Amino acid sequence: MTTPATPSTHEPLNALLRRMPKAELHIHIEGSLEPELIFRLAQRNGVALKYDSVEALRTAYAFSDLQSFLDIYYAGASVLLKEEDFFDMAWAYFERAAADNVVHAELFFDPQTHTERGVPFETVVRGLHHACQRAHQELGISSRLIMCFLRHLSEEDAFKTLEQALPWRQYFVGVGLDSSERGHPPSKFERVFAKCRELGLHIVAHAGEEGPPAYIEEALDLLKAERIDHGVRCVEKPELVQRLARERVPLTVCPLSNVKLCVFKHLGEHNIAALLQQGLVVTVNSDDPAYFGGYLNQNFVELFEALPQLGAREAYQLALNSFEASFVDQATKDGWKRQLDAVFGAAL
Ligand code: HPA
Ligand code: ZN
Repeated sequence: MTTPATPSTHEPLNALLRRMPKAELHIHIEGSLEPELIFRLAQRNGVALKYDSVEALRTAYAFSDLQSFLDIYYAGASVLLKEEDFFDMAWAYFERAAADNVVHAELFFDPQTHTERGVPFETVVRGLHHACQRAHQELGISSRLIMCFLRHLSEEDAFKTLEQALPWRQYFVGVGLDSSERGHPPSKFERVFAKCRELGLHIVAHAGEEGPPAYIEEALDLLKAERIDHGVRCVEKPELVQRLARERVPLTVCPLSNVKLCVFKHLGEHNIAALLQQGLVVTVNSDDPAYFGGYLNQNFVELFEALPQLGAREAYQLALNSFEASFVDQATKDGWKRQLDAVFGAAL
């Protein structure tokens, strides 16, 4: 006897959230490095860590803002030296993503965090690419890589990184902008993003996480960003909210990250439901799941528990938005929508 696959209207919301197919569009692969793997790689590579146990490292994960997180995040990434280290990190993420019914993931990577330590660009991209290939073959997850420039470094550094990346152009589909937002506006990188557009790369940028709404406008107007990562501070400027809705600019929102980095005091205060209600193409993402308390399904479940106005309809819309906002062709998106419809069945 097999149980029927169709969910009833009584299927609990949590089960539906976990089971629905979804895309993840805002995950820093270095932010998926779990403390256990950090220690294993430190030992394998003979790298000394400031913490003497997994527990001591985990205890340090109490952040007051973005910078306090980034300091620990870059220290964690210092154990990554060889191609197999990058593979192991990304493979561990894909296994967790598969368990969360992620059918597609667009992974950010930070090459400058590694090239600054003498790790060749090639080592990083080969290891990640290998994991992406294996995820497709063995887990049925499609993926893309997006190279991020560190905004606390100079535009000249970003140009140097782009130069190093050119022989590997076919391995990534886009470029992004991350790291310390305050004091590093998108305008600082206008020329390098123009060059990236000439190369046919997709453009995304972190903006409006800690920075003001003007940074979101700069990302749109100067960098020509197709998606905004975070973007939650857009609510401070109603004309901008209307523009994002009208132009269907997706926001890749990261609920647990926002609470851990004190952008919102708790999930009950998060503005994602209000943004969804105003017609914005918002998506749910995990950002740096090893540091912020959960992978994609954990973000969905905790968010829906905290915001009672979110139900099955909103779950469906958020998953559909994740497909719409992804950098794949329309036929692939249509296929995922059919899978989504099949899971929701009578639940809407
Ligand atoms: N914001 C900016 N930079 C980052 C983040 C983030 O949440 N995670 C990793 N790099
Ligand atoms: Zn991010």
